[in-house]
Amino acid sequence: LEEISFYFLFDGNFPELSVLEFKYLLQGIDPGISINKLFVSNEILIFNLNDDYLKLLKNFQKFSRLTSLTREMGLIYSIFNYQIEQDFDEILNYILNTIKIKYSSFKILSGLSFKVEMEKKGIVSEKIFNSNNRQILIFSVADSLIDKFQLKADLVNPIISIKILLTPQKIILGQKILKPNRKTIMNRTPSNRSYFHPGSMNPILIRSMVNLGVKNSYLPLGAHDKKPIFLDPFMGGGGMLIEAISMGYSAIGIELGYWMARGARMNLLDLSYSGFESISWSILRNDSSVIPLKSNSVDVIVTDPPYGHSTILGGKNLEDLLNDVLKECYRVLKNKSRMVISIPSTTKTNLTSFKVLEEVHDRVHNSLSRIIYILEK
Ligand SMILES: C[S@@+](CC[C@H](N)C(=O)[O-])C[C@H]1O[C@@H](n2cnc3c(N)ncnc32)[C@H](O)[C@@H]1O
Repeated sequence: LEEISFYFLFDGNFPELSVLEFKYLLQGIDPGISINKLFVSNEILIFNLNDDYLKLLKNFQKFSRLTSLTREMGLIYSIFNYQIEQDFDEILNYILNTIKIKYSSFKILSGLSFKVEMEKKGIVSEKIFNSNNRQILIFSVADSLIDKFQLKADLVNPIISIKILLTPQKIILGQKILKPNRKTIMNRTPSNRSYFHPGSMNPILIRSMVNLGVKNSYLPLGAHDKKPIFLDPFMGGGGMLIEAISMGYSAIGIELGYWMARGARMNLLDLSYSGFESISWSILRNDSSVIPLKSNSVDVIVTDPPYGHSTILGGKNLEDLLNDVLKECYRVLKNKSRMVISIPSTTKTNLTSFKVLEEVHDRVHNSLSRIIYILEK
């Protein structure tokens, strides 16, 4: 099998988390996938795979339906390194010559309709790539592809989109293959819900946390006789459950606050009536220090616990509460299953017998920073 190169473009707001989501979600979808030469800079991830192209595409399609932090996925034809001292014509000739000579890495079928798009990533020299030169680059690449593959330009509805990514030291030439529909996730923003409370997390962040827990043994997409079981022991307004349900999990939320639990119920009913009628969910009004579920019964836990102060804690301090809840989460999770949890970096918690797979630091605002842990039983 030949080696194929890909680029993934990330959400610039969560650089570290984007890479983790990529890694965990892709391996969750296909544990057999082995990535060669992974490289990240300027919100672009580049990697190589030796695999059957069609099988990869199927996996990427699943990935694209789940991801929240990948904005675009594409195939790489060629990467051109350049130096700041080089002049534009020299760089242009180098690119055009490569297109003329190189056949194998261009997986283009002759005769298709196409367009060329360009995106700047990072700080790119204005001297070399001023707007005039950028236009020249786009048109020259387009012309040489027309010559070589008899492509037809179509700016409105092209079959393939050729992509030029301009970065400070490299120019990446490739083809867009998938564009995840992140708008659907963004539209589930807390302020659009029937019940809204200010402590709710951004759905893009929630979705990425849920994705960190995805495993092949219970892939949430697709037809199952029994849907995999998702648990959030600190449900709040139901943000986590909303993402989990829309991915196809059967979801359980636990919440101690009476009004909060009722609010979450309203939000989940809205979701049910908007196309998720077939998915089951339950809300338990309970203190999560004691979880009323059987041991080894839950496939994945993702949660955003209270940060103290304003949120009710059932009379305990945050450390004790988290220690008790983590113990219970460990008990109810199936073996080898995962828990993803965000904890304020100043809070000392005992992660019980969990194995820590990963920890990412995420700064919420000046006075609050948290750590997102991926734990495994
Ligand atoms: C940070 S919020 C979760 C927000 C949620 N991720 C969202 O986006 O809507 C934490 C929630 O835990 C609840 N809570 C606090 N102590 C609890 C306990 N002992 N058992 C269950 N829930 C508790 C609080 O009422 C609060 O709604």
